[in-house]
Amino acid sequence: MSASTASLHHLLDWHELDDALWFDRIDAALRHHRDRTWSQKARGKSLGLVFFNPSLRTRTSMELAGVELGAHVTTINVGQGTWGFAWEDGVVMDGTEAEHIREAVGVLSRYYDALGVRVFASGTDYERDRDDVLLKTFAGAASVPVINLESAFYHPCQALGDAATLMTRFDGQVAGKRFVLAWATHPRPLPMAVPNSALLAAARLGMHVTVARPDAYALDPGIMEQARRHAASLGGSVEETNDLDAACEGADVIYAKAWAGPLRYTDPEREASLRTETYRDWRITADRMARTRNGAFMHCLPVRRNVVVDDAVLDGPHAIHLLQAEFRLHAQKAILEYVWQL
Ligand code: CP
Repeated sequence: MSASTASLHHLLDWHELDDALWFDRIDAALRHHRDRTWSQKARGKSLGLVFFNPSLRTRTSMELAGVELGAHVTTINVGQGTWGFAWEDGVVMDGTEAEHIREAVGVLSRYYDALGVRVFASGTDYERDRDDVLLKTFAGAASVPVINLESAFYHPCQALGDAATLMTRFDGQVAGKRFVLAWATHPRPLPMAVPNSALLAAARLGMHVTVARPDAYALDPGIMEQARRHAASLGGSVEETNDLDAACEGADVIYAKAWAGPLRYTDPEREASLRTETYRDWRITADRMARTRNGAFMHCLPVRRNVVVDDAVLDGPHAIHLLQAEFRLHAQKAILEYVWQL
């Protein structure tokens, strides 16, 4: 591949890119939803997807997005038929890892025209996770565009799909609507990429956003500041509360998501006890949805039924989680068009 790395159109996260591109790609995703055709726009291109973590939606929708644009797509599951990768600079590789990420990504860059990577948070080193060190290491070793398929702190494919879903749900009149990002109980300590990205997406649509979470589950202050800046520039707002029932009153959207938050890094035992015992009633129920203004229910999936949200909500008329999942395909076609400048 001959492209200079400085001119690569990576998609690591939307916060690195301007509003014009964000809204342009939402429009493109909406066009792909309206007119789902198979084209040959990316004929002759190849896409390699590298998964360090499990996936259903991202894997399949990205494979199909490439194919529907005429590209060839290969998925690599790290640890299943690949060598184990070492990440650190200067590491003495006398342990189990047989290949360094620099060689692995350097080689893949010579085969593929773009790479996608999913690499989750460590859950143990907050500074490194917040700075998305693994994603940046991967992108730094690439000489082709890299698409973030969910990193420690951001999930830009989910964010674009969610934004296009909201535009569809409200016929384009999203600005000014009330969006509640609702923390939920969960048996596992989940990372913050999705709540961060959902919050930023809603703020960047000019919505009035409420983050409803117990005090121990406040999101990173830097993310909150980014969200406030985006919302303010578009006539929206961002606030926080520890009262889920009050947040649901008059809401237009309830976006449920479990996350373990920064406390997971400093006091994992207390965090587990809060998440699974103290706050186990932080679940989206039909009663809570009844407080909304015919609000839509959203979740990125996978979702734990009757833990995060009740059957009655997921199977009810206001749940749009499947449309949300569908939009991952349309959004990722829009993202591939960007990284390849089609
Ligand atoms: N929402 C989402 O990214 O789903 P997967 O983890 O199944 O890809």
